[in-house]
Amino acid sequence: MIIILLGAPGAGKGTQAELLCEQLGVVSIASGNLLRDNIRNGTPLGVRADEYMQRGELVPDKLVIDMLTARLKAPDVARGVILDGFPRTVGQAEALDSTLAAQGRRVDRALYIKVDTETLLDRLSGRWICRNCQTSYHEKFNPPRVSGVCDVCGGELYQRNDDRRDVMENRLRVYFEQTLPVIQYYRDNGTLIEIDGTQDIEKVNADLLAAVGPIPAVVAEGVADSSAA
Ligand code: AP5
Repeated sequence: MIIILLGAPGAGKGTQAELLCEQLGVVSIASGNLLRDNIRNGTPLGVRADEYMQRGELVPDKLVIDMLTARLKAPDVARGVILDGFPRTVGQAEALDSTLAAQGRRVDRALYIKVDTETLLDRLSGRWICRNCQTSYHEKFNPPRVSGVCDVCGGELYQRNDDRRDVMENRLRVYFEQTLPVIQYYRDNGTLIEIDGTQDIEKVNADLLAAVGPIPAVVAEGVADSSAA
């Protein structure tokens, strides 16, 4: 099963991807996390991506498409995947369709987590992320048990550079200009389902699970495998 999570910066894509991949027994791939790994490791891709990300601009399609196409060939994706943050332009959506078609696959669901701008700004300004496992918290809406420490792995929590107010506003502008057409792309091909992302995390999760529908047998086996391990 190939699931895409769509939504503005701060809509809750990362938070929900983490829940869904555990519930569905599939991996999640977040293009933003892959790019940040490249920056941390000082790769040529990371060096190029960093200048765009610091300004809240999209990294050029060619770089992101090559990175995701390579990742989608890995064996752990065979059972299914949740894509978080990709595609973000119509060019990326078309490239994804071609890559999947070459593997005899297609996007099964495009789940659009819809949230108003004021709520997005509130969420991003209070967000804290684990340096180690990338789990996302919010100082008001989803606080860790111990301030500054990840509940999952004990790692240190930090605030992203691009969650500064000026960069946040630019990320939202870029989203409205370049990513809203992607939502229309999936609406037109009949795979889009809209979810009210202003509800609490558990309710958004329940709506997303309902939108995914019955879990196909191969994925259900994956869940059974992982719970037995
Ligand atoms: P990326 O890392 O993908 O960031 P983003 O899309 O801007 O999304 P965020 O991670 O900010 O938000 P989210 O929706 O995951 O929200 P979260 O769950 O954390 O991209 C960063 C940059 O990388 C881009 O600007 C671009 O430069 C580059 N890039 C990445 N992909 C690219 C691509 N495909 N093409 C080109 N460039 C690319 O939640 C936010 C906060 O709200 C958290 O604190 C959370 O605890 C809280 N929260 C979540 N849900 C709820 C809820 N229901 N109620 C209350 N609080 C909630």
